[in-house]
Amino acid sequence: MSSDTEAGDDDPAGAAAASTAASTGAVESGSVQRGDASARTPIEDLPLAPYPPNLGRPALHAFRQMRDPFAFFERALTTGDVVRVNLIGTGDVYQLGHPDHTKRVLLTEREKFDKTDDFRIAFGEGLLTVEGEEWAQQRDVLQPLFARDSVMDYADGMVEQIRRRSERWADGDRIELQREMTHMTLDVLFATVLGRELALDGDRKIRAAAEHLHDWFLPTTYFLPDWVPTPARRRFRRAKATLQAEADRLLGGKAGDAPTDPTDAEDLLSLLVGLREAGIADTGMLSDERLRDQMVTMIFAGHDTTTTTLTFAFWALATHPEVRERFHEEVDRLDGPPTMADVEDLDVTDRVVTETLRLFPPVYSLPRQAATDVAFDGYRVPEGELVSLPIRHIQRDPRFFDDPERFDPGRWTAELRRELHDFAYAPFGGGPRICIGREFALLEAKLALATIGRNYELYWLGERSDEPPTSPEMTTRMESGKEFLITER
Ligand code: HEM
Repeated sequence: MSSDTEAGDDDPAGAAAASTAASTGAVESGSVQRGDASARTPIEDLPLAPYPPNLGRPALHAFRQMRDPFAFFERALTTGDVVRVNLIGTGDVYQLGHPDHTKRVLLTEREKFDKTDDFRIAFGEGLLTVEGEEWAQQRDVLQPLFARDSVMDYADGMVEQIRRRSERWADGDRIELQREMTHMTLDVLFATVLGRELALDGDRKIRAAAEHLHDWFLPTTYFLPDWVPTPARRRFRRAKATLQAEADRLLGGKAGDAPTDPTDAEDLLSLLVGLREAGIADTGMLSDERLRDQMVTMIFAGHDTTTTTLTFAFWALATHPEVRERFHEEVDRLDGPPTMADVEDLDVTDRVVTETLRLFPPVYSLPRQAATDVAFDGYRVPEGELVSLPIRHIQRDPRFFDDPERFDPGRWTAELRRELHDFAYAPFGGGPRICIGREFALLEAKLALATIGRNYELYWLGERSDEPPTSPEMTTRMESGKEFLITER
């Protein structure tokens, strides 16, 4: 595995090679039998995966899951790679705990799995949610804006935003880093992809709205039908309306001002408006409503995940002095704030980001819905049932990583990258639907660590523990209220 091709990539050749493997039988497909690969049993005769015996009665699964989701799924998956848990509101969910399964669902047999409905209900028809032809068309249009070369052009703008906020910190400040990073990643996203700089201490409505987009997914409302107006859902609806209005305002402001050749566009807004004005691409995709959905999707998907990555990276640096020392040595060698030209040389910083995303992947599991009956390790997953790919669990599996619970950026040697199962590390998902913002997020994370690390050292003020205090919501987050002490260097 190389860092460029982690968990498959956008390269259609990768997908083609893998689907050849599937058709030649190298990948389990159709029918299999536990413990005897040679015997073939029709899928309909296979048993359903067991409920893990160590989780108590299925009726109680949801309560245990709500109390501590990570512990719940870890426990479940110690009993086997394919298990079934029962959750209120969603019913049975099949946990698929081996990277071979991840690969089948995301790449080699991806046509057998759909995205789940919840995101579409929340965010409409943006890239994260649409399927089939419409997805392919949206991805084609948006991909160039997120390709490595285009993302490189954002580097200076990213550093400007990171400095603008972090250079206000003073020696002795105590900051809630998760909150500060949320503001910073939103500053970066707006200034680059959306082409509009947010006010450093203003634009509070937009900042609050971006935060409340997560309220749709609070575990406490999972079990209620979508139409029940809980306070969290009301907050979500208000937040979405605020961001839609902002999207309209931005799109209106660009009308008549977009580049005549949309391929010259420097940000998402100019690209979308330019395509519409030039009459390129399907008009359905470029209707007002779709454009709005696209913008809200990007605001949702494009900042919280990087926030988490940065917050946990700083926690890991603060609690691992030997890594912190090497990191500071590396960033101190820079002549000034990092530039795109420096990024290739930031080897320690790169490994810190890679290892943070292994131990604390912001998207800790990926949901899909079986579009047909499908077999995993001799068990049947019936059509219509939910499957879950437990990314965090797999990335901590001792079959793939030595001493897996340890934060050890040094483990990312060329040899490990070469020999690792190609889906044992998948913080950005994999296959054709791999995160479109991956290059953007990795660049932003490295630039933010280096910019901040040159000026400050961050001390962890929470309890000492092997694990940071984590609150698994829609994405992994640090528990709120946890502070770091800032010291100037
Ligand atoms: C460390 C940061 C990030 C992580 C860990 C992350 C993770 C992921 C994952 C796991 C997926 C796959 C979802 C699935 O298969 O169901 C995904 C998709 C996506 N991400 Fe990210 N993401 C990050 C940053 C970003 C950024 C910065 C943006 C935009 C600026 C972004 C936009 C998207 C979009 C639009 C999709 C849907 C792609 C498609 O279906 O074609 N992400 N992300």
